[in-house]
Amino acid sequence: MNYLIGIDVGTSATKTVLFDENGVVTASSSCEYPLYQPHNGWAEQKPEDWRDAVLKTLKDVVEQSGVQAEDVKGIGISGQMHGLVMLDEAGEVIRPSIIWCDQRTGAQVGEMLSIMPRERWIEITANPPLTGWTAAKILWVREEEPENYSRCRHILLPKDYIRYVLTGVFATEVSDASGMQLLDVAGRCWSDEVLEKLNIPREWLGTVYESCEVTGQLLPEIAEKTGLTTQVKVVGGAGDNAAAAVGTGVVKDGTAFTTIGSSGVVFAHSSHMVLDPKGRVHTCCCAVPGAWHVMGVTQGAGLSLKWFKDNFCQDYVAEAERQGVDVYDLINRDVKEIAAGSDRLIYLPYLMGERTPHLDPDCRGVFFGLSAIHTKAHLLRAVMEGVSYSLSDCNDILQEMGIEVDQMMACGGGGKSPVWRQMLADLYGCDVKTVHQSEGPALGVAILAGVGCGVYASVEEACEKLISEDKCSHPEADHMETYRKYHQLYKKLYLDLKDSYKTLAAL
Ligand code: XUL
Repeated sequence: MNYLIGIDVGTSATKTVLFDENGVVTASSSCEYPLYQPHNGWAEQKPEDWRDAVLKTLKDVVEQSGVQAEDVKGIGISGQMHGLVMLDEAGEVIRPSIIWCDQRTGAQVGEMLSIMPRERWIEITANPPLTGWTAAKILWVREEEPENYSRCRHILLPKDYIRYVLTGVFATEVSDASGMQLLDVAGRCWSDEVLEKLNIPREWLGTVYESCEVTGQLLPEIAEKTGLTTQVKVVGGAGDNAAAAVGTGVVKDGTAFTTIGSSGVVFAHSSHMVLDPKGRVHTCCCAVPGAWHVMGVTQGAGLSLKWFKDNFCQDYVAEAERQGVDVYDLINRDVKEIAAGSDRLIYLPYLMGERTPHLDPDCRGVFFGLSAIHTKAHLLRAVMEGVSYSLSDCNDILQEMGIEVDQMMACGGGGKSPVWRQMLADLYGCDVKTVHQSEGPALGVAILAGVGCGVYASVEEACEKLISEDKCSHPEADHMETYRKYHQLYKKLYLDLKDSYKTLAAL
């Protein structure tokens, strides 16, 4: 039997899963690390923490599974997108990574727009300049930390830094590179025009591969540390959303998924390139060679619920520990008892600014309508509903763009919650389904590794063989009507507060 490993370098943890060639989980290990927020709207992580987590979890899965090292054929790496990792001449990390949800680069986005018109940015990179994307972060370091910038020789994305650790190779692949704002997304290669305009040396960037191409093999010292062999091939892998698409079987037209991880994403596959001229949703190359995807992004999805739990739910945490259950199961139990609409309470999930549809780094979270009637369970439900309103905004834009979706899947930590899936079904007005294989991005990149190593003939064929539907949430008519009204008010609240957000940011 052949075995494949999928690594997902997430925002809250790295998860590594060893699968057999039938997609069955043989062993799994995860390791958490901190998120640093030195200022309001900033977000950083240490690449060394990702590295340590990957090495530990790789070793764990090899040990736990007991499989023969030579039967493990390939590794795929998935990771949080857009994060900036800068390495010096010796391959050492220069500064902490500025990650996807960081919003410090408003001024740099302004500069990018003054260098090249917004329409041209969209023509080449398929997206307008965005605060969370890598290019603006590179400019920020150049302007604010010239000493760090002068030492930079390599620029990598989070999962591509892990590839460098594992193989010594500087490379990336099309899905994640699409989120750097340096890629010609139609041509699936670096854009000389953009690199020249931004004055970023091309030799700092890795070679761009398709997601299932082999990029290197394990270094001897890594093979020794993890119990694997140097014959293990590491494929391109994918950004976490493109990887989750493969892991949920979203690899052909008409299929889409919603993931609720730290961020929330509504993602639709497209065999041709579709652009939103308003730039509210992202168009990127997807992990299926020669195809693209369109996705809307909510910055603070699971991040909102985790923030609320970490700060205000010590009682739930203690009860979960006592009962030996997952704290989110207890939260779901109580949220289910509250009626749709949370008794007139609305949460705006803008803890880290917002991307779709507002592209506003300055907006922040709000509970609107607080009353003495409300309990902690109301606030928790409002948080989940607020995230769902934002995801519904993403879904509405995909529909407005004429992207037809007849299959909406759900995944990510939040996608495991039946209550949250019901909210999505009620707001989207369509069935929301899960798959039996719940590993999402880790399974997605393991499949890509299998294609690269010749275990599967193609991504589509592997998905057909390995992935099957599980649960289905149907929209409920009375909830749909309630949520239609709440969603209208939710949308109006941003417009009402837009100017005040600017004032707040300037305080
Ligand atoms: C996508 C995005 C997030 C991150 C973190 O554009 O920023 O989904 O990939 O998971």
